[in-house]
Amino acid sequence: MSLKKRDLTFLAVVAAVFGVFYLISGDIKTARVPYDDNHKQYLAVVQTDGKMAAEKFCGECHQPDGSAPFPKDHKSRDRCLICHKWEER
Ligand code: HEC
Ligand code: HEC
Repeated sequence: MSLKKRDLTFLAVVAAVFGVFYLISGDIKTARVPYDDNHKQYLAVVQTDGKMAAEKFCGECHQPDGSAPFPKDHKSRDRCLICHKWEER
């Protein structure tokens, strides 16, 4: 049996579906972005320019030598707001 292009496409679709499930499940257990003076201005950026525009700023503080480093086992460095939802106001 040989892998055809169609099979690979199918595998990619299956992987994407599981990826989405993973992200949705992350939504439930992941710490929320605080609605405080460090963060609330970025919620305004999300509302005007979208999540990706706001995420550019997170690394200013959330990086290994920033003021609020990630936990050690934190891998992903971008698209913060896919996993971290905003705290209820
Ligand atoms: C000006 C510095 C700064 C920027 C920029 C910043 N943060 Fe933070 N963040 C902090 C500090 C300090 C804390 C820890 C204290 C606190 O809870 O406010 C924190 C805490 C957090 C937490 C954890 C809350 C908890 O329950 O422990 C998350 C999640 C978070 N930030 C996400 C983000 C995201 C996403 C962005 C980009 C939209 C961002 N931060 C931008 C300073 C910053
Ligand atoms: C793939 C999902 C994912 C992405 C993307 C992601 N995180 Fe996280 N983050 C987590 C998980 C899971 C934890 C650990 C569980 C928890 O404490 O919420 C965590 C923990 C944190 C914490 C510590 C929270 C605490 O309570 O101590 C901060 C701060 C944080 N993330 C900031 C960020 C920032 C800023 C970005 C973007 C640069 C980002 N994360 C991207 C999933 C993610």
